[in-house]
Amino acid sequence: MTNQDDFISTVSHELRTPLTSIRGFAQTMLSSWDKLDDNSKKKFLEIIEQQANRLIHLVENILSVTKIPSENLILKRTGVNSSISSIIQIIKQKYPEHKLILDLNKQELYIYADSEKLQQIFINLIENACKYSDKGSNVNIITKSDEKNVIIKVQDEGIGIDEEYAEKIFEKFSRIDNPLTRKTQGSGLGLFITKSLTEKMNGKISFKNLKKGTEFGLKFPIYNIEEHAKCSVGH
Ligand SMILES: Nc1ncnc2c1ncn2[C@@H]1O[C@H](COP(=O)(O)OP(=O)(O)OP(=O)(O)O)[C@@H](O)[C@H]1O
Ligand SMILES: [Mg+2]
Repeated sequence: MTNQDDFISTVSHELRTPLTSIRGFAQTMLSSWDKLDDNSKKKFLEIIEQQANRLIHLVENILSVTKIPSENLILKRTGVNSSISSIIQIIKQKYPEHKLILDLNKQELYIYADSEKLQQIFINLIENACKYSDKGSNVNIITKSDEKNVIIKVQDEGIGIDEEYAEKIFEKFSRIDNPLTRKTQGSGLGLFITKSLTEKMNGKISFKNLKKGTEFGLKFPIYNIEEHAKCSVGH
């Protein structure tokens, strides 16, 4: 079987599961409308809505994955701190019970990046940190730099990642089977997209387990005005 066949069969399976559930609950409501009380009707509609949301998330991620190889990113001087600050409210609304703690470098740190995709990278990592840790726990987001690189860390106090899955989590459709991943929804594409986009911006992604939880690290070359001036003169 080719990679393409593999991809299509996995996608079909992933699409079929929520669709079957939507159809099932809709059929039950239609056939038993008079027998169902309002509470049950509401519960069924909530499931239908939830599964529809899951489908939308999945389709958006599948589109991102198929676009990545041919996509030209628009790389510009981009501030990492302001990029994080601009997405943090969206995540706070989605995970109001987590404590998102920002420890950002005093001065803005600039890298050569596609600003929209950089936001997508941060959203994926911070959402994972919230998804795979308990409500009320801390998520630390740290930015700093050394001589050559800007370093971003996202730390959580969650379930951690078994060493044996270290390579796997960055692959397409990979989800680690445990009670918490079964409880949370996900397409298993977030980290694949995150890694691909990071590398397209000349960055690197890594992770390590902490005493409790996980730390994902990103490293991008610092934007260097002189180098980029030289490049443009060359054109
Ligand atoms: N911070 C984390 N702590 C523990 N496990 C994690 C963490 N981040 C990712 N994982 C594990 O790696 C798997 C892959 O993550 P990935 O973000 O690619 O997919 P997902 O979160 O399941 O779905 P989505 O496509 O919606 O992001 C997750 O299913 C989870 O098992
Ligand atoms: Mg994810």
